[in-house]
Amino acid sequence: MSRIVVVGSINMDIVNQVEKFPLPGETIHGKGVDYLPGGKGANQAVAAALAGGQVEMLGAVGEDSFAPALLESLGRYGVGTKHVLRKPGTSGLAFITVADSGENQIILAEGSNGQVRPEDADDSLLAGAQAVILQNEIPWETNLRVMQACRRLGGVRLVYNPAPVRPIPEEAYGLIDLLVVNETEAEGLSGLPVTTAEEAVAAAEELVRRGAGSVLVTLGSKGAVYSDAEGESLFAPARKVRAVDTTAAGDTFIGALVAAGSNGMPIAEAMSFAAAAAAIAVTRPGAQASIPSREEIVRSLAENS
Ligand code: ATP
Ligand code: RIB
Repeated sequence: MSRIVVVGSINMDIVNQVEKFPLPGETIHGKGVDYLPGGKGANQAVAAALAGGQVEMLGAVGEDSFAPALLESLGRYGVGTKHVLRKPGTSGLAFITVADSGENQIILAEGSNGQVRPEDADDSLLAGAQAVILQNEIPWETNLRVMQACRRLGGVRLVYNPAPVRPIPEEAYGLIDLLVVNETEAEGLSGLPVTTAEEAVAAAEELVRRGAGSVLVTLGSKGAVYSDAEGESLFAPARKVRAVDTTAAGDTFIGALVAAGSNGMPIAEAMSFAAAAAAIAVTRPGAQASIPSREEIVRSLAENS
């Protein structure tokens, strides 16, 4: 089985369900609150483990009452937690509002995620991994150290999901084997409009020109496109489903894609596998709680072929 390391955030998601998002200055009644384990790093780790990867997580929880539940959730889904550190203070929190349309709004309080330091990312954990996945909910300095270590160690596929988006220094693009962005992130980084698959391909090609080995742009219910430095260009349509909560759609897509790729699945097939996984996730509430197992994904692919 492939070994995948996820270096990233672990959050308790405090999820408020509403009919419609409030306007600025407006006060509305919520329909109910849930406390659900999330965080982009942890979600991607869970998705990769459930999709068939052997996954180790490097991140941090705090010393608060949320920490045990966050660790328990990772363990329950098969993610190794030996490298999840305890840092003083609170765990990461995400204040999420989910509207009846299935869309969400998220405000982060970084907590212990902000204390995942470059020196916490030891070469011994990264060496020999088939893939390492990063996001933007821990300090950039730590991400950069991991990217540089993976390049130095060799043989590790570095996957970067720069969410929430921030500029990528020019010299870091060359350290990224697969850059995964949604429409907003693709626009923010490339400076190009991204509303259609054609525009997404143009943005992906621009990011490949800057040095990324390959770029995948996810387009929500419009699917996903892929471009790489060898000139390959692919499109994977999204499944037609009724979305109730799109939280962690992107995380599910990335985890499933990387697990499939690390187990030898060609990229076009891995994109369909990932799209099937994400389509299941959006039909269920929550982040980690919504992510399907490999068996469910395979069954869904067979039913829809
Ligand atoms: P999030 O931040 O909510 O985790 P994201 O913005 O990173 O998501 P999206 O582009 O919205 O990522 O979605 C990722 C993938 O999930 C899409 O490429 C698609 O395959 C699937 N997906 C998302 N929304 C839907 C939907 N409404 N119906 C079917 N599939 C969807
Ligand atoms: O991508 C979804 C995740 O973003 C949520 O689980 C929340 O914790 C935020 O990090």
